[in-house]
Amino acid sequence: MQLFLDTADIKQVRDAVKLGVISGVTTNPSLVSKAGWSGDYKSAVQEICSLVKGPVSVEVLSAEAGGMIEEARSIATWSPYVNIKIPVCAAGLEATAVLSKEKIKVNLTLCFTPNQALLGALAGASYVSAFVGRLDDAGQDGMEVVAQIADCFERYKLPTQVIAASIRHPMHCVTAVQAGAHIATVPHSVLMQMINHPLTTVGIARFLEDAQKTKGKG
Ligand code: G3P
Repeated sequence: MQLFLDTADIKQVRDAVKLGVISGVTTNPSLVSKAGWSGDYKSAVQEICSLVKGPVSVEVLSAEAGGMIEEARSIATWSPYVNIKIPVCAAGLEATAVLSKEKIKVNLTLCFTPNQALLGALAGASYVSAFVGRLDDAGQDGMEVVAQIADCFERYKLPTQVIAASIRHPMHCVTAVQAGAHIATVPHSVLMQMINHPLTTVGIARFLEDAQKTKGKG
């Protein structure tokens, strides 16, 4: 199980990388807009790549297969760590089929069903991203979809990796492990929540207090 950071915020990447637990980063146009990137998109992606030194997903914006392929080929030159996020749709599958033959790694995103993920794997995607939180929001069990995808890939030994995405809280990470996801991509806030527990905080404070008491006694 690997953890990716789901952000386009370079400061968050810098902070999280120091913890030694993050092996990749996923971005999307909404996260890029939230991070307030202006102008030099390429340099920002390159900086994230140099920090994380692992897979960094960058999403194409074209709606047509030809445009997606052209964008992906250009983005792929930015860094050997970059992979291309492409939404699952007919054009996205067509682009994935072409790019995977060129050894350009694709993260097929916005997957909400096992069928979409299976099609992505058959087209040659390196990763499929299942949006757990958005399925939960719609009244479905998002992690059940992750489990179905993981089971299918395992059963047929498909090399595509399942990313549990749209992670909203720490329990999503626990259930992502149970569901057999290869990767969970987590927002920075969830990563921080994963670290903390009130009993740990109280325990640290108590150890320090007790250490103070014994100081000067020896
Ligand atoms: O990785 C996908 C993620 O960024 C979507 O999360 O919270 O917008 O559903 P959310």
